[in-house]
Amino acid sequence: MTSAPSACCPGVDEFFSQRLAYRELQTYRRRGPSRSTKKLINALLKQDITGWTLLDIGGGIGAIQHAVLDAGGASVVGVDASKEYLRALQEEALRLGNRLRTSLYHSDFVAIADKLDTADIVTLDRVLCCYKDLESLVAASTAKVRRVYGLVYPRGSLLSRLGIFLFNASMWLTRKEFRTHFHHPDKIHSLVAAAGLSESYRANTLLWQVEVYSR
Ligand SMILES: C[S@@+](CC[C@H](N)C(=O)[O-])C[C@H]1O[C@@H](n2cnc3c(N)ncnc32)[C@H](O)[C@@H]1O
Repeated sequence: MTSAPSACCPGVDEFFSQRLAYRELQTYRRRGPSRSTKKLINALLKQDITGWTLLDIGGGIGAIQHAVLDAGGASVVGVDASKEYLRALQEEALRLGNRLRTSLYHSDFVAIADKLDTADIVTLDRVLCCYKDLESLVAASTAKVRRVYGLVYPRGSLLSRLGIFLFNASMWLTRKEFRTHFHHPDKIHSLVAAAGLSESYRANTLLWQVEVYSR
């Protein structure tokens, strides 16, 4: 794992703690990916991805990375600001025998984007809402897409916004630094379209919007 920590995401290591990472890993081993992640994976795997590469930004315990490699993907680059998630991901990649096809970076993706290669698939699953500077994250990540771009982010519904407000209130009350950010779906669409990508799939869960774009 290559480490280049930066001040991108205040409170990320406190919030995405070892306890949370391993709880998520246990849930993943028992039940597989979350509902929204499953929808994104199924949409990505509708095409034959044999030999394709993946850049997974903020991949957590790596559900997309493991699925892409299982489906014949050539290799994966994972970039995450949380070192505990990367540790759990590394452990799972080792268990599944995928370690040699996985390169991991502990960093703010935006800070190291210039040093990374393009990939056939680029994914940000529940990551845009952790990052205040939407424009920079979308610009840096869309620039890496050779074929397909996958996103999961909070819907524009009142319920989603209320969820974000209550989550941030709970962070404030417990004196934690970590915050989530609401970015309007229209804004996200226009930034992605300006990068030359067109929407090819959309689905919703109660709180999340799942989208796939193609070059
Ligand atoms: C809510 S978690 C989602 C994890 C996983 N994708 C999932 O859906 O279960 C958000 C993840 O994005 C990471 N993250 C947020 N902004 C990032 C950035 N700019 N660069 C790298 N990782 C980032 C956080 O460290 C965290 O692991």
